[in-house]
This record gives sequence, structure tokens and C-alpha cells, in this order.
Amino acid sequence: MHPQLNSHGELRHLLSTEGLPREVLLRILDTAQGFVSFGDREVKKVPLLRGKSVFNLFFENSTRTRTTFEIAAQRLSADVFNLDIQRSSTSKGESLLDTIANLVAMDADIFVVRHAQSGAPYLIAQHVPTHVHVVNAGDGRHAHPTQGLLDMTTIRHYKPDFSSLTVAIVGDIVHSRVARSAIHALTTLGVPEVRAVGPKTLVPGDLRAMGVRVCHDIDEGLRGADVVMMLRLQNERMAGGLLPSASEFHMMYGLTPERLALARPDAIVMHPGPINRGVEIDSTVADGGQSVILPQVRFGIAVRMAVLSIIANAGA
Ligand code: CP
Repeated sequence: MHPQLNSHGELRHLLSTEGLPREVLLRILDTAQGFVSFGDREVKKVPLLRGKSVFNLFFENSTRTRTTFEIAAQRLSADVFNLDIQRSSTSKGESLLDTIANLVAMDADIFVVRHAQSGAPYLIAQHVPTHVHVVNAGDGRHAHPTQGLLDMTTIRHYKPDFSSLTVAIVGDIVHSRVARSAIHALTTLGVPEVRAVGPKTLVPGDLRAMGVRVCHDIDEGLRGADVVMMLRLQNERMAGGLLPSASEFHMMYGLTPERLALARPDAIVMHPGPINRGVEIDSTVADGGQSVILPQVRFGIAVRMAVLSIIANAGA
């Protein structure tokens, strides 16, 4: 059985962009497109999830993902519950699956899960009843599929023709679930050149097997790019010794206006946030005319509305 699709090929759980057919990705992006201007409406509500209960379970911290999932579920008229993990019985040693079973007993319909352990949302998806859906909001280094999809929505907005794009993903790729989700989506959607740019310690060589061009030279990586996707240095996931220092990383790989000039003049600059200003990206670039970092956040609401409405309507 497919871990994410039901027997009709419809999205039942969203756990990863890896393995999702192109038509499923396109359906999410097309549905999201219909929600993009929703925030400009006077009444920001539709009844697509009326009567459904969405539980946000964030075992790791979040600003953007958690808040935009909550906004998305509320705009779809769901009842939304944010479990306060610090004050929950997880601190008394209750297991993840016992917590889930208890929330299912409270009539949960959808779980949105962020967890430090790669695979935690898969485990939950294997143990919930067939009418319950799971959305991965970021698991360890593994996947962050709604970030990957909001990145695709952002790129599609500014650069609609994927078949001619060069996308450079720069920085701490080895620890990045964002990079992994974006790479799977970009390759499935037919982007001909995806580059992974960074030092040898932070760029896994096995990306070449996925058709990704690995560049350890930042100038080579940025030259002629249509999209520059910067990544945060994930110090909390580094065991140590992978980098001399943040300032040396900035010297070697930080996105400065001079380096950005190597990309195409109309290139867009993306970053999933949170930003380490002056480390992977200069403030003049992050806040500059080519930056689409804040539009990414706004597209995140539309994408999460799309995902929640699609899975809620999928059968078992
Ligand atoms: N991009 C992202 O996942 O941000 P948060 O950690 O704030 O959710």
C-alpha cells in the first residue's frame, strides 16, 4: 500500500514530496493557486473543513509552519487544537502513539506533526484509523513537504515555466529537510538543472544520483541561476567540526549583493526562514528587491489550505 495515497491514487496523508506523482503535486499547486488571494477577502472563511478537528502537534519549535497551518485550518472553518507539548503528558513519559490514540478518542480528524525524529509522522500514519489524516510539518532531517510545496508555489508565481529553470540551493543541505523536499518536487516537476551548493561537509554527494549538480564553488553554483534558495545553518543539528565558524561560512558561501549579481538579473532569492542574517545571507539581499522571502510565507497559507482540503476529502 502507498504510504501517502489511497487506493484511488488520492492524497490521504502528506508525509514527503518523495514518491508523489507529478499529477498529485500539480493538483496541490493548482488548488493552492485558488487560495492565493484568499487573504485579501473581507471574510476569510470557507466551510470546506467545517466539523473537522485539526490537531497541531509541534514537538519542535516553529513560527511560520505552525502559525500558517493554524490560519489555514481556521480559514477552512475547522476546529483547531494546538497541543502544548511542554505542558502535555509527553513530559511524564507518555509515548507518541499513546498520545495519538488519546487524541483520536477526542475525535481528531487531521494531525499536523513536527518532530525531531525522522519518520515520526510515518509511524503515526501507520497507526491511525482510516478516516484520520496525517500531515508532516517537518521530521528531523528527512522531509518538510508543505515547505517544499510552498517553495514550488512561489517559484511558479515568479517563474511559471519550470522546463527552463536553473535552481541553486545553497548552504547546509545535509541537515535540511527543506532542501530534500524541494529537490524531490523540483525534479518531479521537470526542472532541468538543480544545483546543490556548499562545502563538502554540508552537501551530501549522493545527490548526484538524483540528477542534482553538486557545486562546492559558490560562484559556479550561482552563475546564471533563475532561483537562489538559501538555507539556514542548522547549528542545532550539527555534531561539531563541520564548519570552522559562522563568519568563515559567510566569507565562503554567504549571499552578498556581489555574489547575487552572478545569477540572472531577474533571479529570485528564497529562504525558508528563520534567517541567520550576516551568516548565510546579507540583510541587503534578504530585504532587497529580488527577495521573495515574505511572499513565501504568504504562499504557505494557500498551500496548507490546499493540502488540508485535499486530504480531508480523500477516502480511505
Ligand atoms: N520554514 C519553517 O519551517 O519555519 P518554522 O520553523 O518557523 O516553522
